[in-house]
Amino acid sequence: MTLHAATAPVPSPPAIRASPSLFAHFVAGVTPHRTQAQFLEDRSPVKVAACGRRWGKSTAAALDVLHLAVVGDALGRPTEQMIVAPSADQATIIGDEVERLLQNGPLSPLVRSIVHAPFFEVALTNGSIIRARSAANEGKYLRGRGAHRVIVDEAAFVSERTLQEAILPLLADTNGQLVLISTPFGHNTFWEYFQRGQGVDPSCHSYQFPSHQNPHISHAYIEAQRDTMTDLQFRAEWLAEFLDDHSTVFKWPLIDAATRGVLCGPLPGRRYVLGWDPAKYHDHSAVIVLDVSSYPWHVVACETLEGRDYGRQVARVAALAQSYGGAGVVMDATGNAALLEQVLATGLPCEGVTFTNPVKQQLIDNLVLVLERGGLTFPPLPALLQELRYYSYTLTSSGAVKLGAPDRAGAFDDLVTALALAIRAMMQPASVQRVVSLHDVVDQLGVGYEREIAALEKAYAIDSRY
Ligand SMILES: Nc1ncnc2c1ncn2[C@@H]1O[C@H](COP(=O)(O)OP(=O)(O)OP(=O)(O)O)[C@@H](O)[C@H]1O
Ligand SMILES: [Mg+2]
Repeated sequence: MTLHAATAPVPSPPAIRASPSLFAHFVAGVTPHRTQAQFLEDRSPVKVAACGRRWGKSTAAALDVLHLAVVGDALGRPTEQMIVAPSADQATIIGDEVERLLQNGPLSPLVRSIVHAPFFEVALTNGSIIRARSAANEGKYLRGRGAHRVIVDEAAFVSERTLQEAILPLLADTNGQLVLISTPFGHNTFWEYFQRGQGVDPSCHSYQFPSHQNPHISHAYIEAQRDTMTDLQFRAEWLAEFLDDHSTVFKWPLIDAATRGVLCGPLPGRRYVLGWDPAKYHDHSAVIVLDVSSYPWHVVACETLEGRDYGRQVARVAALAQSYGGAGVVMDATGNAALLEQVLATGLPCEGVTFTNPVKQQLIDNLVLVLERGGLTFPPLPALLQELRYYSYTLTSSGAVKLGAPDRAGAFDDLVTALALAIRAMMQPASVQRVVSLHDVVDQLGVGYEREIAALEKAYAIDSRY
């Protein structure tokens, strides 16, 4: 749809009401760009958009939501819409955009109430409701509500199970619309929906929108991103291509399967370990706390610490480990024995690992093994997921294999290293006295987990010393 030039007559009110992009332009005061308008005008029961970063997903989704909320369904009746994203923070991004558009324009008299906590909810005076919820914990926060439309942002990172068991049921009574928007992430469920929308099924339409289709983002900016990431990452994230994960270390379906649950403060009776990758090359270090009291192990805290002030970093790591019941620390102490001494001086059990290529390879291999065995889960934390997805094997100019993020500005792998170090605490219990050992965990698994136990024992060659 082409929007009217300034000189063209203003369309009639019914025409504006009928068209989400005219509504956006004339009522909400935002002119959708060409491909946003194409997406907004699509009324298919299922519509899917594979988008590059900065294409304008949040803006388009907010405009779509606003239109249906204000105009109502085909008979003008109020509607209920649910915005869903892998985490609460991501869900509120579109919610915030909706709120901004509502508050700052001619639509503000239509707002009856806006609630932010515990869940985002906007009520309009016409009776329409807009909610935003996280898909975490297999969609636990979504259950029990119907909706005329569900918009799933970053849908490629929501599990098939959550989609089937928590999201689709929301639409069952209303015969409502399902909107899936995401940057692509391999050939997973989102891709299957995308494929469906490319075929003959009239109820489903899909689109591929690379970032450069947003005229408000400069091409130079997009091109500059090429230098900060691998080709694979650039093609997935900016060109919106569905790719395989051949050159990456952690296979994407494994990452997908492990992504669940939420961060959590220390709980009595549970046991934790902490992995720390101190700042070396970047002014950036990473800490992961793993709950190892039940299987699979779960990431409960994930922090990046800025700056190279080691005193401050040690204080933070020690405080975190103390708060988690004196969690055993495993840290990268390569070329920095003094730092290890500082942590030991706090009284915490701590192992310093000296990185060589084989040691790093072993650490990463262990992390891969644990993931393959379903032994680890983590919340949908964008920074961690990003690092895991693109962690690669690359060949250096001398022909050696290098592990990690590509050597480019803006590409980090510290969280992955911290996670691998935390996993090591379970492999080397003798060096971190106070942590629960893998053997303890195997004991706890008990009846019904014989296969997992056998796999763990084989993988880590557990012996009776543990
Ligand atoms: N129709 C529009 N008119 C003006 N600016 C727009 C429009 N659509 C998007 N933008 C601008 O383009 C930028 C990216 O938009 P938006 O945040 O909606 O994209 P996104 O795809 O959600 O990005 P991200 O990948 O960061 O989540 C923002 O600065 C936004 O204001
Ligand atoms: Mg966005």
